[in-house]
Amino acid sequence: MTFLYKSSLLYHGLMTMVYHVHRRERFEEVARWVPRDAEVLDVCCGDGSLSSFLPASVGYRGLDESTAFIKAGTHRGRDLRHFNLMAEPLPVSQIVICQVSLFQFYPKVEEVVGRLFAAAAERLIVSESVKSFSQSKYALPKAICSWGTCVDGLNDGSFRFNATSLEALFAPYRPYLRHTAEVCAGRDWIYVFDKDDAAKI
Ligand SMILES: C[S@@+](CC[C@H](N)C(=O)[O-])C[C@H]1O[C@@H](n2cnc3c(N)ncnc32)[C@H](O)[C@@H]1O
Repeated sequence: MTFLYKSSLLYHGLMTMVYHVHRRERFEEVARWVPRDAEVLDVCCGDGSLSSFLPASVGYRGLDESTAFIKAGTHRGRDLRHFNLMAEPLPVSQIVICQVSLFQFYPKVEEVVGRLFAAAAERLIVSESVKSFSQSKYALPKAICSWGTCVDGLNDGSFRFNATSLEALFAPYRPYLRHTAEVCAGRDWIYVFDKDDAAKI
């Protein structure tokens, strides 16, 4: 558990600083790929904020390792469960979403993407940052950001994707790609994969 994920308030404060005028857009760009009445599994959901951007008819479930986030989200009536992606099998869902979370699992990101893809019965939506303070040329924000997001036993928090490495990560899934674009003025990239209308890998 990283320091940053011990408080939902602290996390939202930081995300507001980072995304600024794009703080709603990052959720809206994901939400617009979720059909009404869909069943959604949000993996590494934080406090489940994404659910506020989905139609009420969507069946939303969120999974996250942070007890503080789960507590904050369930207080708001969201269906969230404590879950460790590195230790537990993922349940299958019509739509699987993973937002700004893949970087944490470096160097096991290929394995994680494979598991997310397998869990998505119809559609996988991944949105990931390609800009971060952990890549800053200034030592202080770089150190704080890396320290705040390092993962015990996996990485030191300094790894982030860029547009090229993200594209390479998803290359094997290209036949399933329905949509990709940069969002939030290039801070994030979104990838939408559909299983039905694609050739097999
Ligand atoms: C950068 S936050 C993203 C949260 C949310 N998706 C969002 O867009 O605001 C990364 C999330 O991954 C969760 N996380 C980290 N390691 C995890 C693991 N092994 N299993 C499940 N969740 C994990 C953290 O608790 C945190 O909520």
